[in-house]
Amino acid sequence: MKILGISGSPRKADRSGVHKLVQTVLDNTGFDYDFVSLKGKTIAGCIACLGCVKDNICKVEDDLFNLRDKIVEADAYVVGAPNYYSTFNATTHAFLERWFQFRHQEGDTLWGKLGVAVGVGGTSGQFPADEIEKFFLYNFVETVAKVTGQGAASCYTCGHGETCKVGIPHLLHGEGFKITDDIIPDVTKQPEVITSAVEAGKLLGQRLGQEHDRMAVTKKMQGRMMAMFESAV
Ligand SMILES: Cc1cc2nc3c(=O)[nH]c(=O)nc-3n(C[C@H](O)[C@H](O)[C@H](O)COP(=O)(O)O)c2cc1C
Repeated sequence: MKILGISGSPRKADRSGVHKLVQTVLDNTGFDYDFVSLKGKTIAGCIACLGCVKDNICKVEDDLFNLRDKIVEADAYVVGAPNYYSTFNATTHAFLERWFQFRHQEGDTLWGKLGVAVGVGGTSGQFPADEIEKFFLYNFVETVAKVTGQGAASCYTCGHGETCKVGIPHLLHGEGFKITDDIIPDVTKQPEVITSAVEAGKLLGQRLGQEHDRMAVTKKMQGRMMAMFESAV
């Protein structure tokens, strides 16, 4: 069993809450993993060229091309993304959009696999975690856990954070605050968030360690997907 971890944050590992939480989940599964950061990678969104229809292989030659084998070979995914404008960031969106290549002609490459969705935001990581769960569902990948935390908005270090009226610090602390290390959010200072990342990793490991019946998971996800569409009409 092998797990693929993806951090969609464009920040350096030591500054990124997403990176830290994805790493924590991966470290607690008990299985081998690959961890890929999308920082600095060029991944465009799907261009609907339909070049993948015949063989389920995307023909766009950017950095996703080299990640395709890792996606195919993994039994489970830990995907994390930052909250940008109450959804997830464009790079992670593009990365997951391109999984369209696996969806043709009964393409079952991803069906029945397992996933953990990780989201971090200056206020909350719920939106990106929910979006990742939705993309997993479209590929019949079951989300076994979601992990969300609060990270440091760039406004804490941009140099104007104490006076700017549109930044997250003003939203969270009101008027007249001083930016000190104590008030800068960091997922490693949130014990309940770290615990939930550890528990998510353990749960993913347990599920992979059990007899993993991909067809049963696929059927469950198909049911959820149909229910989602029925409730939308
Ligand atoms: C373009 C942009 C938009 C953002 N929008 C939001 C937002 O709508 N809500 C929020 O809670 N945080 C928002 N943030 C803050 C990030 O989610 C926050 O910095 C988080 O820690 C990023 O995760 P990372 O540290 O792993 O990169 C935004 C940041 C950027 C750069």
